[in-house]
This record gives sequence, C-alpha cells and structure tokens, in this order.
Amino acid sequence: MKRLAVIGPGKVGRTLAKLFHQHQVYEIGALVSVNPETAQAAADFIGAGAQGGTLETADIVLIAVPDPVLETVIAELAAKAIKPGAILAHTSGALGPDLFDVLAGQNVRTACVHPVKAFSDPARSVATFDGTVTTLQGEASACAELATAFSAIGGRTLELSLDTDRTLYHAAIVFMANHLPTLVQAGLKTFAQAGISREAGFAIAGPILRDTLEAVLVNGPAAALTGPVARGDALTVARHLEKLGHADTDLAALYAALARATADVSAEKGEASVDGLLAIRELTNPG
Ligand SMILES: NC(=O)c1ccc[n+]([C@@H]2O[C@H](COP(=O)([O-])OP(=O)(O)OC[C@H]3O[C@@H](n4cnc5c(N)ncnc54)[C@H](OP(=O)(O)O)[C@@H]3O)[C@@H](O)[C@H]2O)c1
Repeated sequence: MKRLAVIGPGKVGRTLAKLFHQHQVYEIGALVSVNPETAQAAADFIGAGAQGGTLETADIVLIAVPDPVLETVIAELAAKAIKPGAILAHTSGALGPDLFDVLAGQNVRTACVHPVKAFSDPARSVATFDGTVTTLQGEASACAELATAFSAIGGRTLELSLDTDRTLYHAAIVFMANHLPTLVQAGLKTFAQAGISREAGFAIAGPILRDTLEAVLVNGPAAALTGPVARGDALTVARHLEKLGHADTDLAALYAALARATADVSAEKGEASVDGLLAIRELTNPG
C-alpha cells in the first residue's frame, strides 16, 4: 500500500487521512505540524500515523496548512528529502498549482486537490464525506492517481484545466456556500425585528429553504425564483426597504443589493413586467 504523509493535519488533513486509512487506500505515515500536540491529536483521531517523522518515505504528501503559510511551506520542501516520483498535493481552494513552480526540476508530481466541503468538525466531515466533489488541477498523472484515491473514499472528482482562474473559481464557491449562511442570518435578524423568535424563524424558514434550494439545483435559479421581485412588484420592495431602513441600515443595504441582483434573474425568467423591474432597479440603485 502506498504511504501518505500530511503536512498540516488540521481539519482537512486529518479528515482525509482518516478516510484514506479507513478505506485502506493509503498507509498513514508522518503527520507534520507546528505544534506536536496537534499532530499527536491528529494521529489519535486517525487511528494511525505518527507525529513528526520523515517525508522521505511518503508516496503522497498532502499539504493542508492555512493559505497564508502555504507558499512558504511548499518553498521549504525544495530543501527536504522527498521520494522520487512522489505526489505533492495542496488542499487550498483559492491558491493554484503555480505555488509548486519553486519545485520545478525536482522529480515530483504536483496537483491541487480541493475538497469542496465545509470541514468544521472532522468527525462529522468523515461521516458525511460520501459524494463530496474534489476538484483536481495539476499534472495529469498526479490528478489521475488522486482521482482514483478520492473515488475509493466515496468522493467524486472533477479535473479543472490548468488555465482555470483559481481566484474566481474560489469566489464562486464562496458566493454559493459561504454566503448562504449569511442570507439565513439576515433573514433571522429580520424575523427578530418583526418580533419573531429565532426558534420560530427556523421553523418557518426550514421547509421553504430546503424546497427552494432543491428547485434551484434541479431547474436553475431563474425557473426557481418566486416572490415580489420575480413579479416585478416594486411597491412591496419599496415597503420592505423603508421598514428595513428604520430597523437596521445594514440589513436594508443587503436587501437592496440582493433585490437588484434578483431583478436581473427575474428578467431572465421573463414573467415580471419590464416597468416593474425598472422601478426595482431604480429603488435599489446604490448611487
Ligand atoms: N476548512 C475547510 O472547510 C476547507 C475546505 C477545503 C479546503 N480547505 C483548505 O485546506 C487547508 C487547511 O485548512 P483547515 O481548515 O484544515 O486548516 P486548520 O484546521 O487550521 O489546519 C491547519 C493545520 O496546519 C498546521 N500548520 C500551520 N502552519 C504550519 C506550518 N508552517 N507547517 C506545518 N503545519 C502547519 C496547523 O498546525 P497547528 O495546529 O499545530 O498550528 C494545523 O494542523 C487550507 O488551504 C484551506 O483553504 C479548507
């Protein structure tokens, strides 16, 4: 069995290592961290691997350190003994394969492996990994080998071409996955302004949120869109903006920005009157 080492066995590193260990895809070797306690905690969680240790025997080195130190950690690998032909893979979503340019000329294969999942709790992440999409970008042979490994732990993979703009790729995921909780938070705050408790707010919102998300994923954003903006109902939008403006100016600004963007989706849907949508654009004009 090939051996995996992890530099940065935090949330992502230890989750993936545990999955590879459980599914007997890789033997787990060195776990390298800043604080030895973190690596020891990772070894305990994974049930394999050893704090510290050498990278020299690893066939795959997974680099799962925070983005701000990633460039330095990869640059430091240039001076370390690495097994010839080993795969070096980093897990950052925002940073690309160019970080490996410093290792050009060395006998290693490199790739970005970005599991598109929120890893907030490793035990939960292990239990819910099935079906997660991991994007791969880098050298073809490294991507092919990693795709097989990620399939073996229940994941799906998608290869990004080398000219994919990594920053925009990551911004797209942030738009959809990270801003969704913020939208729900804004809704709960608005419920609170209306005198509705958080608990009641969740009870009201749960079914419509699930149903809308499912409709968006099945039919696309324009077809799934309903509500006052989709109907071109500028009067209701004006009332919302006025009340929100009195209650919380940040909420009002967020609502206006979203209503403006929603007017564009409504235009694509084609059911709202042109005048109604123009009035909504006027009402929500940031200038
Ligand atoms: N969290 C997510 O949802 C998610 C999803 C996909 C991709 N990612 C990406 O995955 C990477 C890791 O994220 P994470 O959330 O797992 O971070 P994390 O939980 O903070 O773990 C980072 C690990 O890196 C270690 N570390 C920090 N500096 C180091 C260095 N110079 N050398 C060796 N180890 C070092 C930390 O060790 P100490 O604890 O000892 O300081 C910690 O074990 C990032 O690139 C992130 O963008 C994250």
